[in-house]
Amino acid sequence: MSAQALSPILLFDSGVGGLTVYDALRAALPDAPIIYAADFAGLPYGTKSEAEVAARVAGLLGRMSERFAPRLACIACNTASTIALGMVREVLEIPIVGTVPAIKPAAGLTRSGAIGLIGTQATVRQAYIDDLEARFANGNRLLRIAAPGLVRCAEAKLRGKPYDTSAIAEAAERLRAMPGGDEIDTLVLACTHFPLLAEELAAAFGPDVALIDGAKGIAARIAELTQGQAMAKDRADRFVITGPIEAAHGLEQALSSRGFGVPELF
Ligand code: DGL
Repeated sequence: MSAQALSPILLFDSGVGGLTVYDALRAALPDAPIIYAADFAGLPYGTKSEAEVAARVAGLLGRMSERFAPRLACIACNTASTIALGMVREVLEIPIVGTVPAIKPAAGLTRSGAIGLIGTQATVRQAYIDDLEARFANGNRLLRIAAPGLVRCAEAKLRGKPYDTSAIAEAAERLRAMPGGDEIDTLVLACTHFPLLAEELAAAFGPDVALIDGAKGIAARIAELTQGQAMAKDRADRFVITGPIEAAHGLEQALSSRGFGVPELF
């Protein structure tokens, strides 16, 4: 088996949200060796400043690239992508795939012309979103709010811990209360953690609202960029974390069912 075939795809997020991208990538590329990195020591990114997120993400991805020699890295996090994608692309010499809020597909899907978007505080204030809206919203209205409590819910849910769904109901109410909010028929999940709460979000927004995320599109982009490359696995996928190893407690089931080995400290 050549070293090239074993060179991993690195998926990076602040926490478990990027596992939604991992699931789509695993389905698209069953033989790809994958290392998933969760920056639990830095979680959550959504409440941090742009400078903090950029420094963390660029620094960690630089060190991880040296250690793991990935063929490609994916920032499976909207917050980190909307802030640091350009900077990371400048410093690393491998292809970097980012996570872009699915505004373009949402614009193709809406019938009412009202699209909702929920993300972290840091994501919804980025000019990157203004730019996507200007280029792709196609004249539809984009109503956006930050729903930071949902990251905590998703982290708890995957650990089998109780979580308070009132943050989800509250986000739905807040979006609906905005001018034009009652016409929303398409909701962009602009945080990779949120598809982990798809059932709860569907219940809160009702059956007439379609939920859209970018996971499949990102997996397709990675498949395209690695097309023709040899891929082989000689071990279980690795789940690497920053911070104390206790931060991964409770994730055993979520990780083993996906075929990961035991969590490792970075
Ligand atoms: N999963 C991340 C995202 O897509 C952010 C969660 C956080 O660290 O706040 O935005």
